[in-house]
Amino acid sequence: AKNVGILAVDIYFPPTCVQQEALEAHDGASKGKYTIGLGQDCMGFCTEVEDVISMSLTVVSSLLEKYNVDPKQIGRLEVGSETVIDKSKSIKTFLMQIFEKCGNTDIEGVDSTNACYGGTAALFNCVNWVESSSWDGRYGLVVCTDSAVYAEGPARPTGGAAAIAMLIGPDAPIAFESKFRGSHMSHAYDFYKPNLASEYPVVDGKLSQTCYLMALDSCYKQLCAKYEKSTGKQFSLSDAAYFVFHSPYNKLVQKSFARLVFNDSLRNASSIDEAAKEKLAPFSTLSGDESYQSRDLEKVSQQVAKPLYDAKVQPTTLIPKQVGNMYTASLYAAFASLLHNKNSELAGKRVILFSYGSGLTATMFSLQLNEGQHPFSLSNIATVMKVSTKLKSRHEFSPEKFVETMHLMEHRYGAKDYITSKDCSLLAPGTFYLTEVDSMYRRFYAKK
Ligand code: ACO
Repeated sequence: AKNVGILAVDIYFPPTCVQQEALEAHDGASKGKYTIGLGQDCMGFCTEVEDVISMSLTVVSSLLEKYNVDPKQIGRLEVGSETVIDKSKSIKTFLMQIFEKCGNTDIEGVDSTNACYGGTAALFNCVNWVESSSWDGRYGLVVCTDSAVYAEGPARPTGGAAAIAMLIGPDAPIAFESKFRGSHMSHAYDFYKPNLASEYPVVDGKLSQTCYLMALDSCYKQLCAKYEKSTGKQFSLSDAAYFVFHSPYNKLVQKSFARLVFNDSLRNASSIDEAAKEKLAPFSTLSGDESYQSRDLEKVSQQVAKPLYDAKVQPTTLIPKQVGNMYTASLYAAFASLLHNKNSELAGKRVILFSYGSGLTATMFSLQLNEGQHPFSLSNIATVMKVSTKLKSRHEFSPEKFVETMHLMEHRYGAKDYITSKDCSLLAPGTFYLTEVDSMYRRFYAKK
């Protein structure tokens, strides 16, 4: 199979959200901390009728329907998620309800978990399968689904929730350039979920930022080295039209791109002009550790990077700023923002993606885009996703009502023997929702 990659994409996020400006005031944070400091506009969250399983049921059904794909045509289904509802039974098996109904039980794949990286692992598995000798000619399907919620405190405004589905096959409008890829994996306690009784992570915020940036540097170096080995040319930021980042909050994305600009200036790459090189030169002697701690470098590199950021990153930021951190779905929601904003203009362009999962695992990889053929075309993907309509039709909760929802969800996490309100009045037609968890912890869903 040639040009294996993403044929189709759909995204689902809950219709319920809270404005960051309102949350900021409610939490007693200084004005601008969440909106300017973190760079976030709004945060989506699940109410008691939605969870990672319902969201993934919704997005998979929607993708199959909108692109007119017969469920029998799926040969592999992989889920990435870090939201644990069951320690043994995979989310993938819940999704089998859709396929069993159509007589298709011959579908490989289960769930992948490592913080926000599971979706990328699932995606690579599907792409590798289509490229391998065990491929049977059918499509792969990748689902990234997460509900990111934090305990009250500074991390709470960096939550979010969404599910993304991506159809994988040959001759894709979004093809993998699998040779240009760099990974960085190591052992760290930056963000983890050791308390199985709670949905909330243990998080060392500052450490997680540094781990993220160190992994970014390392992946970029690997990718550059592989590109140079394979093409004989130096890789720089000029060699890709767009850079898409795992997006816990927008400020970290701004810092990340600035970090790549700093890397290019250290490598004396052609992407950086003389004026910028001069501004960054004083920092070239810093050790790695010092460079992660230097506020001056952060400031100067962000300033130098601004024009390039506006051109190469800003079009990827819409959904992550509006919905928040969607964990495994965050990177792909950023990519979906790019598809939404630029669609057909992306034909002929290279896009670099950076995936990060705490703990930690990270990969930077390259995609090559072409218009493709209906229904698997860049323009149709943008049309099908209906990003603007979905964002506009959301319902804003007050911070008080949001906190009340979080309390109910804490109570419900890991519980059995309850029925939900079954109130699906805020959900769009076609949305799956949780109706009941019985005395055996079995979960039941209905479709609106
Ligand atoms: N106006 C404008 N900016 C402000 C204001 C204000 N009133 N107040 C603060 N800021 C700025 C700060 O200067 C800082 O920006 P800077 O880093 O550019 O200087 C930013 O707002 C955040 O303020 P901090 O004091 O650093 O925030 P705090 O430490 O309270 O929390 C954090 C931020 C650590 C990101 C927290 O939300 C968190 O732990 N989140 C979860 C962890 C996370 O997402 N990690 C990312 C990678 S791992 C993953 O994806 C889960």
